[in-house]
Amino acid sequence: MPAKLCVNIDHVGTVRNARGEGEPDPVHAAALCENAGAVGITAHLREDRRHIIDRDLPLLKEVVKGLFNLEMACTNEMVRIAMNLRPDQVTLVPEKRAEVTTEGGLDVRRNMKVVRAATRKMLGAKIAVSHFIDPDEKQVDAAAESGATHVEFHTGAYARLFDRQNARAMEELGRLRAACLQAHALGLIVNAGHGLNYRNVVPIATLPHMNELNIGHAIIGRAIFCGLDRAVSDMVRLLRHAR
Ligand code: PXP
Repeated sequence: MPAKLCVNIDHVGTVRNARGEGEPDPVHAAALCENAGAVGITAHLREDRRHIIDRDLPLLKEVVKGLFNLEMACTNEMVRIAMNLRPDQVTLVPEKRAEVTTEGGLDVRRNMKVVRAATRKMLGAKIAVSHFIDPDEKQVDAAAESGATHVEFHTGAYARLFDRQNARAMEELGRLRAACLQAHALGLIVNAGHGLNYRNVVPIATLPHMNELNIGHAIIGRAIFCGLDRAVSDMVRLLRHAR
């Protein structure tokens, strides 16, 4: 089965917020992405609301027909929002105000108490819970121990190396492969994302047990030139034919 595509629509919110008005609307983008073949939509509600804003969430919940995956930090405010909203899935990510994008994986091991409590609370509300982690054996063990249903492996290091230092990118791919096998053996569903694009996605899509990829920047970037429908369907086609 090919890996499924969830489109991260945050950057549509970034462009909207640059003008402080209503367009382009990430909710409109979500509908277009699903029509073009995405199985779901990912949106990250950041503490500073730099792209997705509170108003988007109930509208996305209503409009998204497939999987609605809410990315968020593991804070009381965000857990409260998720419990009210009830998306299909929450992905817990680390968050620093000054970063341009999510820089590293969540340290589930170090923050076990807080992460486990939030994970259990959301599972109790029938929300699937994914942890965005580095492909690290100890973090995979910790995610399983804390009760997560899914992990999303951070592919940023692989993606950064891909065009510049291919041998090192292949080493990183090896780490990702081992982590996928470990996570699957522990009963976790395996997702991945960050920095994936039309050049580097196939080796990740064909990793063992790969379920779903979360891709934002490359798709929204390409959409500027050829339209969102085409940008999404090009990626869907790549995943469908990946071997
Ligand atoms: N997955 C997670 C957890 C992320 O934080 C991001 C970036 O917001 C993505 C996937 C998508 O990354 P990119 O925009 O580089 O495709």
